[in-house]
Amino acid sequence: MPQKIVILDFGSQTTQLIGRRVRELNTYCEIVPYNKFPADDPDVIGVILSGSPFSVYDEKAFKVDVAPIVAKYPVLGICYGAQMMAYQNGGSVEGAPSREYGRAILTRVDADSLLEGIEPGETVWMSHGDTITRLPESFKIIASTEDVPCAAYHVEGKKQWGVQFHPEVFHSTCGTRLLGNFVHGICGSKGDWSADAYIESTVKALREQLGDDKVVLGLSGGVDSSVAAVLISRAIGDNLTCIFVDHGLLRKNEFRQVMDDYRCLGLNVIGVDASEKFFSELAGVTDPERKRKIIGKGFIDVFDHEAHKLTDVKWLAQGTIYPDRIESLSITGTTIKSHHNVGGLPEKMNLSLCEPLQWLFKDEVRAVGRALGMPEHLISRHPFPGPGLAVRILGDITPEKVRVLQEADDIFISGLRQWGLYDKVWQAGVILLPVQSVGVMGDERTYESAVALRAVTSTDAMTADWAHLPYEFLAKVSNDIINKVRGVNRVTYDISSKPPATIEWE
Ligand code: XMP
Repeated sequence: MPQKIVILDFGSQTTQLIGRRVRELNTYCEIVPYNKFPADDPDVIGVILSGSPFSVYDEKAFKVDVAPIVAKYPVLGICYGAQMMAYQNGGSVEGAPSREYGRAILTRVDADSLLEGIEPGETVWMSHGDTITRLPESFKIIASTEDVPCAAYHVEGKKQWGVQFHPEVFHSTCGTRLLGNFVHGICGSKGDWSADAYIESTVKALREQLGDDKVVLGLSGGVDSSVAAVLISRAIGDNLTCIFVDHGLLRKNEFRQVMDDYRCLGLNVIGVDASEKFFSELAGVTDPERKRKIIGKGFIDVFDHEAHKLTDVKWLAQGTIYPDRIESLSITGTTIKSHHNVGGLPEKMNLSLCEPLQWLFKDEVRAVGRALGMPEHLISRHPFPGPGLAVRILGDITPEKVRVLQEADDIFISGLRQWGLYDKVWQAGVILLPVQSVGVMGDERTYESAVALRAVTSTDAMTADWAHLPYEFLAKVSNDIINKVRGVNRVTYDISSKPPATIEWE
């Protein structure tokens, strides 16, 4: 295995971001719960302690004795991580008179290997309610801002640092430099973690893991399962069989286009048109969670049925990626269970699981896909929910409603591409509302459906803002939809952010 940085997660919202920044420094890292340090892992070269929603003096605060870790590895504490190390060694941490959020400017920067190349005047991003007011004896201040005298410290004679700001967030202008100093300069990372290196080592490992065994994989048309399929097929060729189930709730022409893409990629893929089954099971169902359950179960049934036609299959492959698996800490300290892309399938089929993307972040999956030579439109495709258009048709689902929505959605998505806006939004789609309203077309009164356009910007779908699309573009899409899609006479634009709204309407 490659050299690795371990990130101990104390529950901060930015822990995953630390991981991504370290990976961007071409260094492999793993995020583990604060109390699950992998003590005997020979590949560890350094440790980062994340922030936390708690104060160090809170009774419920997550605590860990870092002394044995510091004795073996370089350690960098970020925000809570820095405060915890200072507090545990006899320093004082107090609630700041005013909580410190947002931009701050470094006013003092000492000569220190962590801060090499960083000058006073750089912006750092603060986000804490507490501050270190007194440092233990051997802890020395190495950087300050106007309001925070101890913005960063180094422990004399030890490879141990703390920063009260967040180098991992985009707005910290010297953040990448600082993390690079830690990861490369201090921990000695060779910086050889790359998409090509990943493909080479993973293909080799897959050949060893799978031998001559047969593997089945469910494709969704999305990035993760597609990249997983191409990677596995590079390792074991036609011993991989892929199954792509069409539940009839995909985008317009998507099933055919994606099947063509898969065949061009040399994948051994079976396409199953199960739309009739799904339409009949969904008839009259209006509750969003029931829709999801019916589709989830229907998918498992169809997939299982097809997979049983194959002989000697030993493995089920999935496109599970790292954020799906990270055991994130909830505020109460309980861990949230790990997640599988296709809930229930592994248990039902009694197959071993093969998840070659399980250590990658989304942007790394895309980099691997590009390095595998996959077409850009497959790689940069927007996320699309598993239950498809079912959760974008409010109320019951009929083939006619799906047709209307597919047409409107196609106009919106093609428009985004034509106007060069597609890659600027995280995800977009149209929602068919259970509302009819009066309109006038020519001299005729109409009484037809309303649709909502939804486009959001986001980095991880956990939070999202509505995309500020140009008015001219919205006007054109609205016109085209009303003129071309029979059954729609009104178009609205959803300007809600998440939270409190969600990306999908159901
Ligand atoms: P929400 O609506 O919760 O969506 O803000 C966050 C992201 O998850 C996608 N999504 C789903 N994906 N099955 C999926 O595979 C689902 O049931 C589902 N519901 C929402 C959504 O499209 C967005 O990317």
